[in-house]
Amino acid sequence: MYCETDDELLELVERARKYTEKGKVASYIPALERANQNDLSIALYYDDGRCVRAGDVEKKFTLQSVSKVLTLALAIMDRGEEEVFSRVGMEPTGDPFNSIAKLETQIPAKPLNPMINAGALVVTNMIAGDSVHQKLGRLLSLIHDMTNNTDIDIEHEVAQSEYDTANLNRSLCFFMKQHGIIQGDVEELIDLYTKQCAIQVTCYDLARIGVVLANKGLDPQSNRRILPERIATIVKTFMVTCGMYNASGEFAIQVGVPSKSGVSGAILALVPPSIGVGVYGPALNEKGNSIGGVKLLEMLSQRYDLSIF
Ligand code: DON
Repeated sequence: MYCETDDELLELVERARKYTEKGKVASYIPALERANQNDLSIALYYDDGRCVRAGDVEKKFTLQSVSKVLTLALAIMDRGEEEVFSRVGMEPTGDPFNSIAKLETQIPAKPLNPMINAGALVVTNMIAGDSVHQKLGRLLSLIHDMTNNTDIDIEHEVAQSEYDTANLNRSLCFFMKQHGIIQGDVEELIDLYTKQCAIQVTCYDLARIGVVLANKGLDPQSNRRILPERIATIVKTFMVTCGMYNASGEFAIQVGVPSKSGVSGAILALVPPSIGVGVYGPALNEKGNSIGGVKLLEMLSQRYDLSIF
């Protein structure tokens, strides 16, 4: 795909890169620790097919929590809005992404929203299919459609590394299984969840996913419908209210566009109705969001007046 280097964008990347020194690469999943602290890159994809880039955009990284947006879209397509939101809520939380605290404060232990781990595990539990392989295949196929890139696959070392250490996520699952919120085998669910987190992409892929969401679920080039408009609206709204974890409120003020982050340093963002944005910067701030990536999006939003509010 042709994507032009943009000098103004490059200047913003170099300014934001200074902040990467102050962040920390995630180490709780051993395979993520090898990322380069100072990496920072961005791609923007427009609905007319244009693409601009800055930084090392060929670099691959894993989706991590960005996958929560895509599994939510798939689960709603599979089960319908009513069933999905009978098992997971729609409200933001001020807690860290992997917190177990709120689950015990209401019985049944329905997680507050699909962007925190507890909620995302419930959503993954609702993906249709007879096996982990089939469910994952359906998720990959949605991602292939949104990115127009059929090469996207799992990074098995990251998946295995997280599977071996995902004891907090196992605890969330066992707690929710006890209360009837999730069904079936917990190990299978953790297997699928850790694989969805380990799907490997580039900034271009994120930007292409973003432009499909910005364009209300339609592929901007072929005009083919990939997601129902209603589902695109739901996931974009969660990105605004819960996409940057317990920094979502500040991010909405400083940047003001639907965005979803992951511990790999990925940020999927979009500017309705016509721009998809993919950012990668593995050094994280204390809330678990890319420190350089958030700075870069703040600068970009201010310079081009991108806030939707
Ligand atoms: O559940 C986990 O621990 C990760 N695989 C995904 C979490 C994540 O990306 C949180 N992001 N800020």
